[in-house]
Amino acid sequence: MIARMATNPLPQFPPGFLWGVSTSAHQIEGAVQERDPSVWDAFTAEPGRVKDGSTAAVACDHYHRYPEDVALLADLGVDAYRFSVSWPRVNSPGGLDFYDRLVDALCAAGVRPIPTLFHWDLPLELDWLNRDTAERFAEYAAVVAGRLGDRVRKWITLNEPAEHTLLGHALGAHAPGRRLLFDALPVAHHQLLAHGLAVRALRAAGADDIGIANSHGPTWAASRRPEDVEAADFYDLLLNRLFADPLLLGRYPDGVGELMPGHPEGVEADLKVIAEPLDWYGINYYQPTRVGAPQGTEIEFGGLTLPAELPFSVRELEGYPVTDFGWAVVPEALTELLVGFRERYGDRLPPVVITENGCSYEGIDDQERIAFLDGHVRALHRASEQGVDVRGYFVWSLLDNFEWAEGYARRFGLVHVDYDTLERTPKASFVWLRDALRARG
Ligand code: BGC
Repeated sequence: MIARMATNPLPQFPPGFLWGVSTSAHQIEGAVQERDPSVWDAFTAEPGRVKDGSTAAVACDHYHRYPEDVALLADLGVDAYRFSVSWPRVNSPGGLDFYDRLVDALCAAGVRPIPTLFHWDLPLELDWLNRDTAERFAEYAAVVAGRLGDRVRKWITLNEPAEHTLLGHALGAHAPGRRLLFDALPVAHHQLLAHGLAVRALRAAGADDIGIANSHGPTWAASRRPEDVEAADFYDLLLNRLFADPLLLGRYPDGVGELMPGHPEGVEADLKVIAEPLDWYGINYYQPTRVGAPQGTEIEFGGLTLPAELPFSVRELEGYPVTDFGWAVVPEALTELLVGFRERYGDRLPPVVITENGCSYEGIDDQERIAFLDGHVRALHRASEQGVDVRGYFVWSLLDNFEWAEGYARRFGLVHVDYDTLERTPKASFVWLRDALRARG
């Protein structure tokens, strides 16, 4: 297969910059019978929750086919592979053995393993509304580090606690399917606490290269009208500051701490744990959001139905190309996001790694994905030139996979997966990235 689009080689980043790809356990592993159930298994079993009615019971069958997937990674020539460890699998007999084998295979292939300890597949018996789940997470982190820590250097605690709170607990679009709106805030606090406790547990196990993968994006006000600007600021607070401020500044944005469980003394004490210094900060970036004052109606946005009572409304981003998922393609917003973060957090912002960036397009000759990745890598480079300390870029995703409530309808992979035969076929974007990484020397 030929990557037809002529592109320049990848821009040069400082030495040590990591090129990688990301996946998550629930989205690719399958083999659900060989582990305990998670909230996602229960959610997908409920009719109507996943658009195409599918489940992740088989997904890409990565659990059984990981040697083939590691061979793909080696061929691609990435420095590192970000995958997630399934907590329910670790709770099952022999579950950790799988990650042991995977990490061994990655090391043998010269690909650095970077595990994420939680990518939304919470053991079914646990609940983020309970504070105790944070303590349990730290115990689990210690178990995984005890087993893999001799080969794993770089760790990620949580993936996108914002989405897990918002989609899973506030809007009911993801597992566990609760629609608590602002009563979901304890879920954010307990995940942040879990993160801080896990950082301590990982450090106690000898780890010294720890980050988190948070989803962030610029928020653009629909107009200069004060009500639109106020609504956009509120959205920015929910998506960006609610999760970054406690981690980087050790405090919640004004007015938020009062809403968290244990206020005031308990929250203050927890914030000290949450703000454990990080070695780096992971950002998952997909698109900016245009936000205005509430319009008093439900809004369909990115596959979600946003209720009318929210104090903001999400508006269409006009004038940009969109992916097959309808997401706007705005590479320059990545530069804006990173430069904005550096301005907002100053020297409290550790080095940044883009832990996810990618797009959903059909087809194997995916020239649009090549253009998307090329544009975003260059936008990242511009942020680096403007003084943001960026240390890595990870494409979401290695494989087409189970895209949560969208089922298998959205294809984010560099590698096509035929869900009938499970055959993997590298797309044009895979060839493009492989050649670009080779050309880098
Ligand atoms: C998540 C992935 C997901 C991707 C595309 C991120 O929010 O971490 O699990 O597949 O976006 O929607």
